[in-house]
Amino acid sequence: MYRSRITGLGYYVPEQVVTNADLTRHMDTSDEWIQERTGIQERRYGKRHEETPSTMAAEASKIAIERAGIDKNEIDLIVFATLSSDYYFPGGGVLLQRELGISESGCPALDVRNQCSGFVYGLSVADQFIKTGMYKTILLVGSEMHSMGLDFSTRGRAVTVIFGDGAGAAVLQRSEDDARGILTTKLHADGRFAEELAMINPGSHGGYFDEDKEKFGYEEAEYGDTFITQKMLDDGLLFPYMHGQLVFKTAVRKFPEVIHEALKEVGASAKEIKMLVPHQANLRISQFVQKLLRLEDKQIWNNIQKYGNTTAASIPIALTEAWEAGEIEDGDLVCLAAFGSGFTWGSALIRW
Ligand code: UT7
Repeated sequence: MYRSRITGLGYYVPEQVVTNADLTRHMDTSDEWIQERTGIQERRYGKRHEETPSTMAAEASKIAIERAGIDKNEIDLIVFATLSSDYYFPGGGVLLQRELGISESGCPALDVRNQCSGFVYGLSVADQFIKTGMYKTILLVGSEMHSMGLDFSTRGRAVTVIFGDGAGAAVLQRSEDDARGILTTKLHADGRFAEELAMINPGSHGGYFDEDKEKFGYEEAEYGDTFITQKMLDDGLLFPYMHGQLVFKTAVRKFPEVIHEALKEVGASAKEIKMLVPHQANLRISQFVQKLLRLEDKQIWNNIQKYGNTTAASIPIALTEAWEAGEIEDGDLVCLAAFGSGFTWGSALIRW
């Protein structure tokens, strides 16, 4: 079996900064509430028509490819993680391939739909392909354009204030050094909680989920109704829903659990982690996890204050920042961990 290594990292965030104060112009919220509950001070929103998940992914990828020192045509596989794809179908992977100008290589493009855990799931998939020798060089990207799909009325405030746009990319390559690279990845899911953090509409469920009912009540749709009905538009049901407190409580349990699971497998302790890069869901969640693992401040990277929660993009953006800051060096033990919609969660341990 081979080992895979991250040889290049990059990220891209749109220029437009949206502060908490900016959001108060649309909904009944406050800078104080948002900072106290989430730690977020500002986020970025992409430019309509110019920036999309695939164009942002391409910008992040170009940086990662350059840093890896590879020719873009060497990419054997693209793995693209997003919940906010440019199109309903096809997925963003093929659009990214086109955007990078490598379509003629015919490299496959795989889309990963695991929301906040998308990058860790994607990393695990890429790792398996490299381990078995099937591919040598894989481009893995997480990219999100949340600002297109949020409810900017007061009704949507608990969800809307959290999310931001951005992209992060990593080039994974077969490692020549067996001691370095991805040591393990651990993935989990519990579909019983699928609707607790979800965007139900539009979808092929063939019905009509009404958020006002006790729990996504279900009304028969007329045969021939399309994904989007006038009633969904009228009732404002084309937005994400989140049972915030349940997600929070489950996340603070699952993050440490899945990190310990990976540590146990490689025979390391939390103390040995040089840098934990958690999915940037909420600063309070990261602080809880830090406390439970007894990590020092310098052992964890948080940047949700600047970018909000960018779902599949949050880990690669944060990982790139930590690396650029010189906080991740050769030989360091790096841990990635995520929890989110599905519920899905996972972790990875990397010997840099
Ligand atoms: O990345 C995917 C994973 N997602 C997460 O990990 C998110 C996990 N959950 C959370 O981070 C938190 O649950 C939130 C930050 C989303 C919400 O914080 P909370 O402390 O759970 O608030 P809540 O939803 O229980 O609401 C408390 C109060 C409510 O008012 P009442 O009913 O007590 O009067 C809300 O209406 O805060 C109100 N509220 C707001 N007020 C001002 C909710 N959102 C806002 C807002 N501004 N944006």
